[in-house]
Amino acid sequence: MIRRIELTDFRVYRHAIIELNEGVTAVIGRNAQGKTSLAEAMSYLSTLQSFRGVANDALVRTGADTAYIRADIVHDDGREILVEAEINRAGRNRVLVNKQKLARVKDLLGVVRTTVFAPTDLELVYKGPETRRDMLDDALVALATRNDSVRVEVDRIIRQRNVLLKQANGRLTEDIEMTLDVWDAQFVEKGSYLGEARAKVVARLTPLVREAYEQLAGEPTSVDLVYEPEWRRIGLATALAEARNEDVRRGISSVGPHRDDVLFFIKGMPAKTHASQGECRTLALAMKLAIHRLVTEVVGATPLLVLDDVLSELDPQRCEALLRHMPPGQVLITTAQVLPEAAHPDSIIRISGGAVVTDTPDSDGTS
Ligand SMILES: Nc1ncnc2c1ncn2[C@@H]1O[C@H](COP(=O)(O)OP(=O)(O)O)[C@@H](O)[C@H]1O
Ligand SMILES: [Mg+2]
Repeated sequence: MIRRIELTDFRVYRHAIIELNEGVTAVIGRNAQGKTSLAEAMSYLSTLQSFRGVANDALVRTGADTAYIRADIVHDDGREILVEAEINRAGRNRVLVNKQKLARVKDLLGVVRTTVFAPTDLELVYKGPETRRDMLDDALVALATRNDSVRVEVDRIIRQRNVLLKQANGRLTEDIEMTLDVWDAQFVEKGSYLGEARAKVVARLTPLVREAYEQLAGEPTSVDLVYEPEWRRIGLATALAEARNEDVRRGISSVGPHRDDVLFFIKGMPAKTHASQGECRTLALAMKLAIHRLVTEVVGATPLLVLDDVLSELDPQRCEALLRHMPPGQVLITTAQVLPEAAHPDSIIRISGGAVVTDTPDSDGTS
């Protein structure tokens, strides 16, 4: 859990120190006061980027050169860790863990874990395949940090393969063929591994997604996840061989894990085209909660769960259901509205103009 976080020149925050407790913390404040900024600082500590997908220099407060995030982390086993991140406009970012400089960003992966759910995540089912692929791959990395290198390797091989295909300029010469053979051997090895890992995680997530969906919807619903790319049925080597002439002609890599999708079905029908908006949103939320639960189970450590402004996007029943089935561990819920009855937060933080007031729900009649 994050016990204390100190923000300096981070977005709207000039300087703020926020003490946090276990359990559910509600972060309440009107629009544009700094709720998302706080959520963003927390998730920055685990990914070193904004969950909104903006460039890092947008995180530095206007008028300042460097933003600082300092956090005291306490792991489930009692270990205490100090994480200090520095975000610099000129790109000189750094992270210290217990005053030690990290050699690689991925060394941070096991230090702070966060699961973030923001309103745009509710569109998971409607978005393009890359969104769902990324979600699966993020889950794979959260489950085992070594998966990060597989993902990076596959990206690198595809980039290099595409450069070669462009160079070929539509003609499969002997030289091109030989180099392509080298890339494809690597692609088959790493790509097949990634496909296998995705298939396994989908199989493990399916029952958890069903359970989470049922909790949110309040009734049993048939939900399926389908990850069955054609290349996995015939094998990546065969698929690449079959596509080779076409790939050379078009100058692109047309088959492989970089084109995968995972499809959602509700009541036997493809959710993207058939399900209601409410069903799609519930499914998106169920998927994220399922990943959160699987990571907790496999890693043996509970990630911090951040629900940024999602309550306003859900109908009252789903809100209540979500709040009633909060996973254990530290949870941060931000909202600009009055909290629903079912929320029962353990702590409340009020935010106004980048300044923070903490109080307990007991002393607060309006919560
Ligand atoms: N780099 C920055 N420097 C100064 N202010 C910023 C910066 N980035 C965002 N802000 C301001 O921070 C305010 C709070 O944003 P946010 O945390 O998203 O609010 P909310 O409480 O609605 O989630 C916004 O009004 C925005 O203009
Ligand atoms: Mg916000």
